[in-house]
Amino acid sequence: MATAHLTIDPHFSVGTIDRRLFGGFVEHLGRHVYDGIHEPGHPSADADGFRTDVIELVRELGVSTIRYPGGNFVSGFRWEDSVGPREERPRRLDLAWHSTETNQVGLHEFADWLEKVGSDLMLAINLGTRGTAEALDLLEYANITDGTTRAQQRIDNGRTDPFGVRMWCLGNEMDGPWQLGHRSADDYGKLASQTAKAMRQIDPDLQLVVCGSSNAHMPTFGEWERTVLHHTYDDVDYISCHAYYEERDGDAGSFLASGVDMDGFIETVVATADHVQAVKGSIKRIDISFDEWNVWYNQRYHDVDRIEGIDNWPVAPRLLEDRYSVLDAVVFGSLMISLLKHADRVASASLAQLVNVIAPIMTEPGGPAWRQTTFFPFSITSRLAQGRSLDVKIESEKYDTKAYGEVPLVDAVATHDEETGRTAIFLVNRAQDGPTTVTIDVNALGLVDVRETHMLSDDDIHAANTLEQPERVGVAPNYSVVLDGGVLTVTLPAVSWTAIALG
Ligand code: AHR
Repeated sequence: MATAHLTIDPHFSVGTIDRRLFGGFVEHLGRHVYDGIHEPGHPSADADGFRTDVIELVRELGVSTIRYPGGNFVSGFRWEDSVGPREERPRRLDLAWHSTETNQVGLHEFADWLEKVGSDLMLAINLGTRGTAEALDLLEYANITDGTTRAQQRIDNGRTDPFGVRMWCLGNEMDGPWQLGHRSADDYGKLASQTAKAMRQIDPDLQLVVCGSSNAHMPTFGEWERTVLHHTYDDVDYISCHAYYEERDGDAGSFLASGVDMDGFIETVVATADHVQAVKGSIKRIDISFDEWNVWYNQRYHDVDRIEGIDNWPVAPRLLEDRYSVLDAVVFGSLMISLLKHADRVASASLAQLVNVIAPIMTEPGGPAWRQTTFFPFSITSRLAQGRSLDVKIESEKYDTKAYGEVPLVDAVATHDEETGRTAIFLVNRAQDGPTTVTIDVNALGLVDVRETHMLSDDDIHAANTLEQPERVGVAPNYSVVLDGGVLTVTLPAVSWTAIALG
C-alpha cells in the first residue's frame, strides 16, 4: 500500500483564514437566477418568489460573500434596468450567453435574497460596454444614504438603508477576447485605475478588485498582471484569479493533480504583484481575490450548450448544467486545499457558481433541489476550517502525470483555531489504483481527540447525484482513523477526499 507522512504544528502558521475564502458567485446565466434561486410558482417559494428549499441548501453550504451579477454577463449589463417597478423593467439581449434577460430579479431582490441566505454582497461593475460614470452612478445608488438623486431613487424603489457594498470587482475577465469590451492590458489598466480613483472619491474605504487573467494559460498571462498592476497598484486592493479544471482525454491522473496548477497560478500572481510592488517601492501589498474557481466541463459548453441564431434568445435556458462525479468532487476538494494553503495571500475566493450553473446545488422547475457531490467538500471545509491555515510538512509517494510531471499522491492542509483549540485536517488521495495509508504527527497539538471525520469516496468514481438519484453520493465517516501516542493514522481510499476534526 502507498504511504505518506504529515507533520502538523500549530506554530507553523501560513496566515489567518479570511471567511471570504468561502465565497460564492451568482451570475445571471442559464437557470441560475430564474428557475434556480427564483421560481415564484414553486411549492416552496416564499412571498418574494424565492425557493426556500434552495435558501436552506445555500445556508447549509456556508457561503460568505457572493459575487454578483457576473461574470461575462456583467460586461453588457445596464444596472438601471434591474431596479424600479418590475413591470417597467426592460427585457434585454444578454450577448454573453445568447439569452434574454428579463430583469425581474435585480439588485434589490438579490440583496433581499442574500439576507435570507446570510451572505454578503460583492458587486461587479460593467467595464465592458460601460465605464467610470455608470460605475459612479451605481456606487451612489447603492451606498449613499440620502440627499442625492441616485440615493433618492433607491429609497423610492423601496430601500431606505444603503446596501453598503464593500467589495467591488472592476469588470470581468477583460483579458478574454470573448469579453464584451475586451481590451489590451494597457487600456484596461488605465480604465480600471481611473474608475477606482473615482470610486474612492466617493468612499476611500472600498475594497477594489482589478481583473487578472481569465486563467493561467492565457497567452498574456503574467504580462497582463504586470501591466494592469503597473497602472492600478495604488488604486486597488486585490487582483483576481479565475481557474476552471476538467478531465481532458480521459487523463484522470492529470485532472486529479489540478491543485498543482492552482498552487502555481497563485504563486505566480503573488510573485508578479510583489515584483510590481518592488518596482514601485511601495509598502502596500496586493493580495488575490480568486473570484472564479471550480471544475467545469467547458468544452461541453462549446460543443453542446452554446446557443445561436438571430431569433433565438431564450429566457433561462439550461446552460452549463454540469453533473459532478466523485472524481470531480475530489479534485474540487483539492482546489479548496490549494486555496487554504495560500491563505496568507488569497483573501477572498468565489466558488463559481452556486445553483444549476456549474453548481453544488441543482433544482428542477416545480421539483426538488439536491446536493451535487461538490457540495460536501465545500460545506464541510467552510464549517471546519477556522482560525489560521498551517504549513503542513508532507512526505508522500509520487506518481507521474502528463500535465504536471511527478506529483505527490497525497495533498493536505490543516487549520488551527487558537480560541477553541480545534484543528482540522483536509486530505486528498490522488492514487487511482488503491488506498494510501497516512500517518500524521500531531504531537505539537498536545492532548487532542478526534471529534469528526468525513470521507467522500465511491467504488464508482463516476457516480453522481441526479434528479433520479439525488442521494446516490454522500459523505461517510472515515472509520480507519486511529489516534495513538500523538500519531494519527488514516487510510485514504483511492480517489478520495477526507476531513478530520481534532479538539
Ligand atoms: O462562470 C462562467 C463564466 O466563466 C463566467 O461568466 C466568466 O467570467 C468565466 O469565463
